[in-house]
Amino acid sequence: MKSPVVLGIETSCDETAVALYRRGEVLAESVHSQVDIHRYYGGVVPELASRDHAGYLRAVAAEVLQGWEGSIDLVCATRGPGLIGGLLVGLTWARAYAFGQGLPFVGVHHLAGHLAAPLVDPEFTLEPPAIALVASGGHTLLYDLTAWGEVRVLGGTRDDAAGECFDKAARMLNLGYPGGPAIQSAAAKHEGPAVKLPRPMLKRGLEMSFSGLKTALLTEVQSRPQPLDESTVNELAYAVQDAIVDVLLTKLRKALEVTGRKRVLIGGGVAANQPLRDGVAALENDGFEVYIPARKYCTDNAAMIAAAGLIQFERTGPDPLNAPAQARWDLQDFWPLTPS
Ligand code: KG4
Ligand code: ZN
Repeated sequence: MKSPVVLGIETSCDETAVALYRRGEVLAESVHSQVDIHRYYGGVVPELASRDHAGYLRAVAAEVLQGWEGSIDLVCATRGPGLIGGLLVGLTWARAYAFGQGLPFVGVHHLAGHLAAPLVDPEFTLEPPAIALVASGGHTLLYDLTAWGEVRVLGGTRDDAAGECFDKAARMLNLGYPGGPAIQSAAAKHEGPAVKLPRPMLKRGLEMSFSGLKTALLTEVQSRPQPLDESTVNELAYAVQDAIVDVLLTKLRKALEVTGRKRVLIGGGVAANQPLRDGVAALENDGFEVYIPARKYCTDNAAMIAAAGLIQFERTGPDPLNAPAQARWDLQDFWPLTPS
C-alpha cells in the first residue's frame, strides 16, 4: 500500500505555509512569507502576523491543492508552541477542512516538525537514536531523539533563543530583519582579527544562555566610534555569530559525549547558518553520522509539520477536532519517552 498523503499547515509565526507530503517526498508546497511586513518593525508583530495568516491561508492552500488530483488521507496543522493568533488561524482552517472532507486530523508540535524535517528528503536514511539540536527564533534545545515520536530533553537555553540573539544583534547593528541571514552575510565580509565576545555558560553542562552575549555586544557597540562604519559592523557581526556558533557546537559535542550517541540531526531556522552547518558537517570527520536539512526545510515550512503529524498519527491516531492551540507546549508532552 502507498504511504498516506498528508496535508500540512504551518502558521505559528511569520510564514503561512501549506504542503502535501508523502513519506520521503514533498508532493506540493507553497509558502507566503511575512518578512516584508515585519521588517518595518524589526521583529514579528503578533497582531499583524495573525491578520496576514487569515488573509493568505486560503490562497496558499488553494495553490497547493489545485494541482493535486490524488486523494488526501490526513490533515495536520501546527497546534503550538507559537503566536496564539496565527496558530488559531491555521488550526481552525485545518480542522474545518478535515471535518468537511471527513478526514482525520492531527495537531502538531512545532518543534517536532523541526525534528522531522529530514524525513521530507528522499535521500534521508539516518535513523534514531540521534542527538538533535533545534535552534530557532523562539527555542534552542538539545534532544536525545530515541525514536521517531520519542524525545528526552538534554539541555537548552535558559533565556534568549539563538535565533533571537541573531535577530537582536542585527537590530543593534542596523542590519534589519530577519537578523540571522543579515548577520551571516555581514560576517562573511569581515577579514582579519575581531573582538572576542563572551561565551556564557560554556562550561556549564548542556545548559545555554544568550542574553549575556547580547549585553556584551551592546557594550561593545557603544564603545566604538558612532555611527558604526561598515567594517566595524562586519567585525561585530562576525564576533556575535562566532560566539553563538561556538556555544551551539560545543554543547552539541558535549551532548554526543555524555550520551555516547553517534548520530546528529539539526533543525530550526538557525540551522540555515553556514558556519554552524560547516561545524556540524565537520563532526563526520570524527566518525559521527550527520544529517543537515536543506535550508528551506530548516526555516518554518509545512512539509515538516506533515511529516511530524504522520509520525504522531501512526503512534496515537487522530486528535479530536477541538484540540486547542497552545502558545506554550513542552515537546516531551507531545513526544514522551516510552518507559523502558
Ligand atoms: O525556525 P524558524 O524559521 O522560526 C521559528 O520557529 O522561530 O527560525 C527563525 C530564526 C530567526 O531568528 C532567524 O534570524 C534565524 O532563524 N535564521 C538564521 C539564519 N536563517 C534564519 N540564523 C542564523 N543564520 C541564518 N542563516
Ligand atoms: Zn520554527
